[in-house]
Amino acid sequence: MLFEIEKISCDFLYCQYYGNHCIGKGYQMDLHSNSQISISDASEKLDVSLDTIRRWEKKGLIKAHRSANGHRYFDKKELDRLIAKNSGKGDVGYKVLKSKKKSGYTVVELFAGAGGLALGLDNAGLECNLLVEIDKRAVETLRINRPKWNVIDDDIANVDFKKINADVVAGGFPCQAFSYAGKRMGFEDTRGTLFFEYARAVKEIKPKVILGENVKGLEKHDNGRTLSTMLDVLDELGYNVAYKVLRAQYFDVAQKRERLVIFGIRKDLKHHIAFPKEQNYTVSIREALREVPQAEGQKYTPDKKKIMQLIPEGGYWRDLPLSLQKKYMGASFHLGGGKTGMARRLSWDEPSLTLTCNPAQKQTERCHPSETRPLNVREYARIQSFPDDWNFCGSTAAQYKQIGNAVPVNLGYHIGKAIIAMLSGSYDEKSLLVLEHRLI
Ligand SMILES: C[S@@+](CC[C@H](N)C(=O)[O-])C[C@H]1O[C@@H](n2cnc3c(N)ncnc32)[C@H](O)[C@@H]1O
Repeated sequence: MLFEIEKISCDFLYCQYYGNHCIGKGYQMDLHSNSQISISDASEKLDVSLDTIRRWEKKGLIKAHRSANGHRYFDKKELDRLIAKNSGKGDVGYKVLKSKKKSGYTVVELFAGAGGLALGLDNAGLECNLLVEIDKRAVETLRINRPKWNVIDDDIANVDFKKINADVVAGGFPCQAFSYAGKRMGFEDTRGTLFFEYARAVKEIKPKVILGENVKGLEKHDNGRTLSTMLDVLDELGYNVAYKVLRAQYFDVAQKRERLVIFGIRKDLKHHIAFPKEQNYTVSIREALREVPQAEGQKYTPDKKKIMQLIPEGGYWRDLPLSLQKKYMGASFHLGGGKTGMARRLSWDEPSLTLTCNPAQKQTERCHPSETRPLNVREYARIQSFPDDWNFCGSTAAQYKQIGNAVPVNLGYHIGKAIIAMLSGSYDEKSLLVLEHRLI
């Protein structure tokens, strides 16, 4: 099935899909189908209350789609998977996805970090022929794991891409504000930012497909102006572009982590943009950490350990006695918001909360589900879907940082499969959401 997006008022596509629903500049699409049921039917089918379903949705165990009038509804197949999982029969198991087939297409990976995205693309069948990374420890990580990769150990601003050939330019450029001074910005006006360096690589290499990856917050950054400037610049450089927020927990990753993915395809190619479709299952921490190898990890101070010992699996600071809540939270106790990341112990049967660069930060605690300690480095790596033989260099803190910064490898795999489809023009519509845009 090909999803067609009618052109209404603009020349190319900036669109965002929320489950079944696509909204964007001049585009609206509803993909509601009869394989989906309402929240009340779902509650009956699962024999749980509406509140329980809403809670599962919040925990990332099941995804709700929204109809055009804002009503939640659910996919029947996904509900069947959840019923099986709840009865102990639905393990999908932890696996690092890897395709045996090489596509022959090549990638330049900018801001490569410890290689989460690069490895995912490689596992999908793409070949990374050049990587750029400034951080020494991350460069070491790339080199010990993939001695054949050509890693440039430098600031991207010093790299000349004019003689480089590649089918794809990929990169998670760190998000920075532009200074508009009241004007609409073009490529040259973004100079001085890391996005400019990414766009310069695109301009110099002229790949067929571009991939930009960022935090979800980019969408709302500076009221959306940052993202729309980036999309305008990529358009100016000759690409049709679209973006989508991908939720890692529906892409074989035991973690709730959202990444904004921009895809672009060179205008002369006339191929379609395709995003990977979410799976109808999730992977729990229990599945991801089965037989995880021993590893180094951060430790709690004795005082912190005393607090964390009182938190049950899946709990957080509100599970402490009131006097300890006040003591632990300090001034934050009286501030609004749930602060559900504070003193947080993870749950075995859910995907992890988003990993950050440190597993024991006060706002984003990631305590092991049943032992009173922060997740260790290998557990971090499993939750980011790195294989056990992918080694990380540097101090324990440097390793956490590299892993926490990475695109989950399996998410990279699904992204890579979509890129191969875009390059070859051959789309598997079961796993891809193909955007057809008609220029009038
Ligand atoms: C979010 S991390 C990338 C993670 C990576 N995509 C992965 O999946 O593992 C961003 C990376 O950009 C690198 N970086 C930042 N500024 C840079 C620059 N000027 N030149 C090259 N790399 C840079 C950082 O060292 C960091 O490793």
